[in-house]
Amino acid sequence: MERFRGGFPATIDAKGRVKLPARLREQLEADFGREVYVCSFFPHELRVYPLAVWQAVEEQLLKKPAMKPAVLKLVERVNYGQLLEMDDQGRILVPALLREMVNVEGEVVVSGRINHLAVTNRTRAASFLEEASLSDEELEELAQLELCWRTAVASEHLPVLTDRVVELLSPAAPGLLVDATIGLGGHAEALLRSERGFRLLGLDRDPLALARAGERLRDFSDRVRLEESSFDRLPAILDRLQLEAPAAILADLGCSSLQLDTPERGFSFQVDGPLDMRMGADGPTAADLLETADWEELVRILRDYGEERHARAISRAIIARRADSPIRTTGELSRLVRSVVGESDRRIHPATRTVQALRIAVNDELGQLETFLEPAVRSLRPGGRIAVIAFHSLEDRIVKHTMRRLAGSCSCPPDFPVCRCQPEEVVRVVTRSPVRPDDDEVERNPRARSARLRAAERLGEGTP
Ligand SMILES: C[S@@+](CC[C@H](N)C(=O)[O-])C[C@H]1O[C@@H](n2cnc3c(N)ncnc32)[C@H](O)[C@@H]1O
Repeated sequence: MERFRGGFPATIDAKGRVKLPARLREQLEADFGREVYVCSFFPHELRVYPLAVWQAVEEQLLKKPAMKPAVLKLVERVNYGQLLEMDDQGRILVPALLREMVNVEGEVVVSGRINHLAVTNRTRAASFLEEASLSDEELEELAQLELCWRTAVASEHLPVLTDRVVELLSPAAPGLLVDATIGLGGHAEALLRSERGFRLLGLDRDPLALARAGERLRDFSDRVRLEESSFDRLPAILDRLQLEAPAAILADLGCSSLQLDTPERGFSFQVDGPLDMRMGADGPTAADLLETADWEELVRILRDYGEERHARAISRAIIARRADSPIRTTGELSRLVRSVVGESDRRIHPATRTVQALRIAVNDELGQLETFLEPAVRSLRPGGRIAVIAFHSLEDRIVKHTMRRLAGSCSCPPDFPVCRCQPEEVVRVVTRSPVRPDDDEVERNPRARSARLRAAERLGEGTP
């Protein structure tokens, strides 16, 4: 039997028929005949099993313990299937219920999956490739199974704008380096390697990230101290540990790939998972927020943090839906948002803005940054440097305005006749405009695309 392979563009027409690409159709007919079992499996994807292949799956199912959770889940997932027949022109009429359950319509990709075919929404297929990258553990496992190469494992960990971060912070060595968002330790490792005079205090609110960073920085253990904390508590931590004024501070904002690529943490709407989204272990989850926030609060979050123009309609739908049952998974939320906004912007998944907004709210990302930045800058020793990498305009605006204000720029509203804020000159901004990744970096690491790096140097007595 030839294996099904390759992906081909196709369309589900107004009657719900999908025409299989000639190559796959001929192969299906020659090897198995025209009867197929078409069923649900993942959202936005239909599976087309040749009948004989599906019957073999059923035989296997009968032999497995029916109460095993994974087996039950599989049965639930394929539940909406139908036995169908391909017509003379290679078309399969997909029943309306199945299309509705799976949400597959219009432009699709039909792809060979060795012993069956998949029909996937084109937008979903594209965004899946871009956003649902493999976790390090999965890449490691695939490498061990000799199904991919080890270079891919390393590429998952690429920190953003590393050379520029090292270039901007190195002049501040020797002394205490604070990595306020140690994550997986990529930037910290580069800085410790390049400057032997740096000793590191690494913070993260995510205990799993700290454990990974600890492993990565094993070779520098005599120069490294890690603390589980949100970075707004930096002054208190410096005080408690009786550390000197930092020579350098780095904050690489946002989430790590460890968080984004772990479905159980609920940051991704591409893969179903519990609606959590907390970077740390405390506080209410995104599901709690959706359960308790009133309409005005939801609208504010979606509009201010997600710049979502359908904020009011989505919030109404959330309130109506939770009156029946709570929204507990990323899949449920994503389907709800899609049902409200449709596919109006085909370049991004319809739930992208909602998910960003909820993540910012759940982790109080902007509040954390506001509280952290000025005291962090003031805590630097004279000549010390701070570098901040922001990933969206809301964060970058805070960084830009705070640095400008602390560099002595007036921050009074333009209609004030005289300056009332009496700015103090605490720093010199080192980056005239934000540093952006070049095309090569974005190609190697698409998550770098929106990064903006700004840096400033503390003024004061003893400034070199
Ligand atoms: C983009 S990752 C940092 C990656 C890191 N620079 C590296 O090279 O691996 C951001 C990290 O910051 C952490 N983080 C975000 N907000 C935080 C906060 N307010 N306090 C402490 N850690 C935070 C996240 O948990 C995440 O691990």
